[in-house]
Amino acid sequence: MSSPAARMQDPAVGTVAWVVIVAAFGGFLFGFDTAVINGAVDSIETEFALSGLVTGFVVSSALLGCMIGAWLGGSISDRIGRQRAMLVAASFFFASAIGSGLAVGVIDLTVWRVLGGIGVGMASVIAPAYIAEVSPANMRGRMGSLWQMAIVVGIFSAALSNAFIANLAGSAGSPLWLGVDAWRWMFIMEALPALIYGLLALSIPESPRYLVSRGRDEQAASVLRSVVGLTQDSAISEKIREIRQTINVEARQKLRDLVVSGKIMPILWVGLGLAVFQQFVGINVIFYYSNTLWMAVGLAEEQAFLIQVITTAVNILGTVIGIIIVDKVGRRIPLAVGSAGMAVGLGMMTIAFSQATVIERAGEEVVTLPDPWSYIALVSANVFVIFFAATWGPFMWVLLGEMFPNRVRAVALGVTAAANWAANFLISMLFPEMAGLSLVFAYGFYAFSAFLSLIFVLRWVPETKGRELEDMQEVGHQRD
Ligand code: GLC
Repeated sequence: MSSPAARMQDPAVGTVAWVVIVAAFGGFLFGFDTAVINGAVDSIETEFALSGLVTGFVVSSALLGCMIGAWLGGSISDRIGRQRAMLVAASFFFASAIGSGLAVGVIDLTVWRVLGGIGVGMASVIAPAYIAEVSPANMRGRMGSLWQMAIVVGIFSAALSNAFIANLAGSAGSPLWLGVDAWRWMFIMEALPALIYGLLALSIPESPRYLVSRGRDEQAASVLRSVVGLTQDSAISEKIREIRQTINVEARQKLRDLVVSGKIMPILWVGLGLAVFQQFVGINVIFYYSNTLWMAVGLAEEQAFLIQVITTAVNILGTVIGIIIVDKVGRRIPLAVGSAGMAVGLGMMTIAFSQATVIERAGEEVVTLPDPWSYIALVSANVFVIFFAATWGPFMWVLLGEMFPNRVRAVALGVTAAANWAANFLISMLFPEMAGLSLVFAYGFYAFSAFLSLIFVLRWVPETKGRELEDMQEVGHQRD
């Protein structure tokens, strides 16, 4: 346990917020990079004459890269430090932006997308760990949620940037701007935030926990003073002692040993459950395939585009709510409420989709949702998004950043984030297939997952609000 003396005395809100914003900027690239494909995918399909399956693979290949990046990111950031790992991720983002924009064929395009995905995956483990490590305990939730805020703003910005480029290029034939395909510009635009991220990462200090793990206590002390807001020398040395203790306890143990010995088992399972459920409710079907989804039930393309803008904004609004509640109400109760709300929203969508009928329009058979079911489906989808965005969206990342003991945090975060990407890959890859079978089946599955996630939260997820990271050793056992 940490003593009261070692706890934060002067919350250096401004400094910690700046450092956290820089780290969270990786989230902006995460959102931008994964969502930018939406605007480009049709043109790519046409330009390289791709089949549906290959197109699906080009879209989800980035998620494979994310999985690799998340897996490697943990050990890389343990080895070279959180800050330098951010610079590596920035280089991947930058290279992928330019490479994808200049791709000559589908193979090199896929390779560049995978590389960009590696950057996203790395950022997805480095930032939550770094943010949790520099934030004082009483604002860790809010700071961690900024990460998700950056992701959703990234998703929104990609949609805006794509729309802007599409507008400049016009829609006749194959859209060009300054003689270059519009879709190429969409990717090249990523280079700008990648560059800013790299430059900003240079301006922030290394995390105190990494510094202590490398024996650089002097530097750790100065970060604890300037960022975490500890003022007294005694408090600082006590904090360093605590950090070292938690690091030393398991110094020679690798995650593998911990899994085998069963010591970290309970908490690792909780992390994996959070990571997988966050994707199994089908959130990214909304963000990667909304057009397909809404057009499949008879809405026009422009309507689908407008709905996507509204939904992305609802996603941002929900995230604001999440940031407000996370350090006040905690993680557990909101997650449970979120699961229930998502189950209702998804359940309503399932019922609405079961009302779809086939009608004849201009000599063609099209699927459509009769009124009022189309409205019910739209409202329910946004109910689902707002519950997700206010709870599971940010809280899963906050929890992964803070729930593991110091020594294994980066590695455990890597494993769980990789599971999140794997689940994302699976759901995104399978959606067209599942929707082809029946939307009722797809949404019934997501609704059932949301319901299971409620049981999971109530039974297994511990409350971590306001606890010091040094105390997390015990969290895995507290529910017993
Ligand atoms: C969370 C999810 C991510 C999703 C986003 C949507 O960050 O991890 O997969 O795209 O929320 O807001």
